[in-house]
Amino acid sequence: MTNSTEPFFFIQLSDPQFGLFEARGAGPGDGTFPETALYEKAIAAANRLKPAFVVVTGDLVQDPSDEIQHTELMRISAQIDDGIPLYLTTGNCDVGNTPTAESLRLYREKFGPETYSFDAGGSHFVALNSSVCLDPSEVPDEWESLVEFLRTDLDARSPDSNHTIVFMHHPLFADSAGEPDSGVRYIPRERRDVILEQLRKHETSGVFAGHWHENHSTADGDMLMVISGPVGFPIGDDPSGLRIVKVYDDHIEHEYFGMDDVPTSVDL
Ligand SMILES: [Fe+2]
Repeated sequence: MTNSTEPFFFIQLSDPQFGLFEARGAGPGDGTFPETALYEKAIAAANRLKPAFVVVTGDLVQDPSDEIQHTELMRISAQIDDGIPLYLTTGNCDVGNTPTAESLRLYREKFGPETYSFDAGGSHFVALNSSVCLDPSEVPDEWESLVEFLRTDLDARSPDSNHTIVFMHHPLFADSAGEPDSGVRYIPRERRDVILEQLRKHETSGVFAGHWHENHSTADGDMLMVISGPVGFPIGDDPSGLRIVKVYDDHIEHEYFGMDDVPTSVDL
């Protein structure tokens, strides 16, 4: 159902991944991060545009044990205006493609829970730990907990919610919901189907992911599956950038902008 609310927009950032330029041999080699200027531009754009919130869909840093990368991420994250909530989700660089109890413990110690939900503008938003969905072989209980959370959370969501929108690092799929597994590129069928069952049941409007460091977009019925390019190191043809997502009562619009081409205002 749809409920009449004011349209609003949010900003999706993905893969700031401090340290990847250096790891790819594309850094200055002097201890500074090319990611710094890019993430600062993204946060400055948010402060200028005033979205309902900003979400970062994982790969916050290249090496979660590197305190300098973490400190730089947090220093710039703190520059966001007080009135703009900043939601972080976890990626494979943060907890591994095969997360362990220890990698999850370290993440939670720094950032808090990585599977959670919140409401904004009359819609419901869910952040999932996609590494647990990709390969929970080392933490099977975490997968059970995630599925239980998703079921309970979506069942309990306000019936007046216009949209349900999911954030996760790894996409659920690339081109179609039923496609075969593809290593670490997206969630394997076995667990993809479990999540999709819940998302379809609750008429989810969209899933926004990252991980590929390039843009890609498809759908499952009325549910968008959007993969966003990176704040940080680009892989492929898309520049470092951010995605603006406009949420209307009955539909969603989204567009990716290179970091130097972000508009000065957002019309709804
Ligand atoms: Fe990444």
